[in-house]
Amino acid sequence: MQNRIFLSPPWVGEPERAAVAAAFDSGYVAPCGPMVDQFDRRLGALADQSAAAVSSGTAALDLLMEEFAVGPDTAVLASTLTFIATVGPAWHRGAQPIFIDADPLTGTISLPLLEKALRAVARRRTPTRVLVLAADIYGQTCDYDGLESLCSRYGATLIVDAAESVGATCRGRPAGHAGAAAVYSFNGNKLVTTSGGGAVLSRNPEIVQRARWRAQQARENKVWYEHCEVGYNYRMSNLLAAVGCAQLDRLPEIVRRKRKIFDFYLALFCGDKRPGHRVAPYPCGDFTEPTRWLSVFLFPTACVRDAVAARLAAADIECRPVWKPLHLQPVFKTCRVYGGEVAEDFFRRGLCLPSGAGLTRTQLKRIAEAIRG
Ligand SMILES: Cc1ncc(COP(=O)(O)O)c(C=O)c1O
Repeated sequence: MQNRIFLSPPWVGEPERAAVAAAFDSGYVAPCGPMVDQFDRRLGALADQSAAAVSSGTAALDLLMEEFAVGPDTAVLASTLTFIATVGPAWHRGAQPIFIDADPLTGTISLPLLEKALRAVARRRTPTRVLVLAADIYGQTCDYDGLESLCSRYGATLIVDAAESVGATCRGRPAGHAGAAAVYSFNGNKLVTTSGGGAVLSRNPEIVQRARWRAQQARENKVWYEHCEVGYNYRMSNLLAAVGCAQLDRLPEIVRRKRKIFDFYLALFCGDKRPGHRVAPYPCGDFTEPTRWLSVFLFPTACVRDAVAARLAAADIECRPVWKPLHLQPVFKTCRVYGGEVAEDFFRRGLCLPSGAGLTRTQLKRIAEAIRG
C-alpha cells in the first residue's frame, strides 16, 4: 500500500496534529466547544453568509430537507451528474427526484432542461412545492445567477450542494452563495477535510440557526430537557472542528497545488494532437473559478479511457470514472429524467485522475509514465 497513489487523499500534517492536540488539552472533547464556534465563524467568512458545522455534508442536506419540509408531495428537481448524497435525504422523505442532465459546455446542471422541467411541474393540476437541488461538481460551481433567476421565475426553492466546490467562486461569489441555502462537505477526500464533516450555509441566519438547533436534538432553552420538535444528533466534534480550522489556514495553498496538478495534466494531454487521441478537460463554465478539487478529463472514446484507467491500475495508481449519472442508478430506475445523454457521455469517457494536494514531482512523473504507456 505504501507505493499506492490515491485519488484524493487528505493533505494534513503537523498543523492539524497540533490543532487536535490543543483542542484535546482544552478539555472540550465533545461535539461542541470553542473550535466548533471558531469553525462556524470562519466558514461564514469564507462563504460570506451564516454557517453551521455539522457531522457530514449528507447530514447538512438532511437538515435542509427538514427545514423545507420535503416530502412525497414535493417536486425535487436535481442534477443527475452527482454523488447519490445530493438526493439521498430527499429520497428518504419520500420525494421522487426528477433528474436534470448536465450542460455539455458547463458540466453542471443544464438550465434549458431545468426550465423545461419547471414548466412541466408548473402545469400540474395540483399546486406542488418545488425544490431544485443543484450540485456543484469537481471543484467548479453551477451558474448561480441562471439558477436563481429560473427558480424565482417558477417559485422554486434553490438549494446548492456545494460539497465539492469549497474554495471556488461563481462570478466572484463564494461557492454555495446562492439560493435559499447550501451545504459543504469536509469528508476525507474533499478539498478541506475534518476527516468527516459538513456545513449548512445560508444568507438567512435563521435557517442556519434552526439547522444548528435541530442538529443538537432540537432542545429548548430550559435547564431540563424540553422538546417541542424531534431533532437529530448531527453535531461536529470540537476535535474535528480544530482540524477544519487548521485546514482553512491552508486553503489557498491547497487550491494553488490542485490547480498546478490540473495544469500538469493539461500539458501532458494537450501535447498529443493525433486524431483520435485528443483529450479534453471536463467542461467548465466561464462564470466559475474552479479549485480543480479533482482533475477530470474526457478521453476520445470509452475504449481509450478504459485503457488509460487499466494502465494506472496496473501501476497501483487510483483513478475513477466520472460520476455514474443518478438516472442510471438501479435504485432510481422509476425516476424521470430530462435529457441524460450528456451525463451518460461524460460517464463513459471521463476519468478523475490523482489530485491530492500532497502529490510529489516523483509521483506525478510516475503517473505520466503510466498514462503514456
Ligand atoms: C456532491 C456531493 N454531495 C454530498 C456529499 C456528501 O458529503 P458527506 O460525505 O460529507 O456526507 C458528497 C461527498 O461525499 C458529494 O460529493
